[in-house]
Amino acid sequence: MDFFDKVSEGQIVPVVVIDDARNAVPCAKALLEGGIVFMEITMRTTCALDAIKEVVSNVPGITVGAGTVLSVDNAKSAIACGASFIVSPGFSAEVADLCVAEGIPYVPGCVTPTEIMAAAAKGLNVVKFFPAKVYGGKSAVKELAGVFRNVKFLPTGGINTDNLEDYIGEPYIAAVGGSWVCPSDMISAGDFAGITARSREAKGKIKAVKEGRS
Ligand code: 3PG
Repeated sequence: MDFFDKVSEGQIVPVVVIDDARNAVPCAKALLEGGIVFMEITMRTTCALDAIKEVVSNVPGITVGAGTVLSVDNAKSAIACGASFIVSPGFSAEVADLCVAEGIPYVPGCVTPTEIMAAAAKGLNVVKFFPAKVYGGKSAVKELAGVFRNVKFLPTGGINTDNLEDYIGEPYIAAVGGSWVCPSDMISAGDFAGITARSREAKGKIKAVKEGRS
């Protein structure tokens, strides 16, 4: 199963902000215990690269990627630390070229037809739709998907337990992303049981939607 098939099966890519690398492994284990198999560690903190390394070395069951990748240098460092996928808030042709050359899945942020076309020209057909809530939510994704039939979307930004069901289960949605399953305050407070509970709740909702639609 390739990365994007696995994403479509998993349906959730948590966006994780780690302020202290010591929290990375317990956070990864908590997500995994709740049934989540992806973790996008954002390059927004000074310890992000250490956090990626820690999880790659210690939690083999979770696929770790780097988020908030803003430059080729960011992407190179994250790949060197073992990141299996790269996510950006916007589209970067340079990061796309690097990832294609390295064979690393790249999910760029695209909210306009022009950005989606730029990504598709690089062979990228899964894009992050961020910030989903601000750019029109599900109805905007649906309109774009009607035109770009080969593209799948990873809506992120403003997604939580209450609106998850709006997105999940549509053929043009690869998965949803977001911080709500492991927000920074829960990570910093060491509330890993709470993270597992939120993960289980989200996975349960996804299962229910999928069973209802099948
Ligand atoms: C991201 O980087 O994708 C967003 O910060 C996640 O948005 P959220 O915190 O609203 O889930």
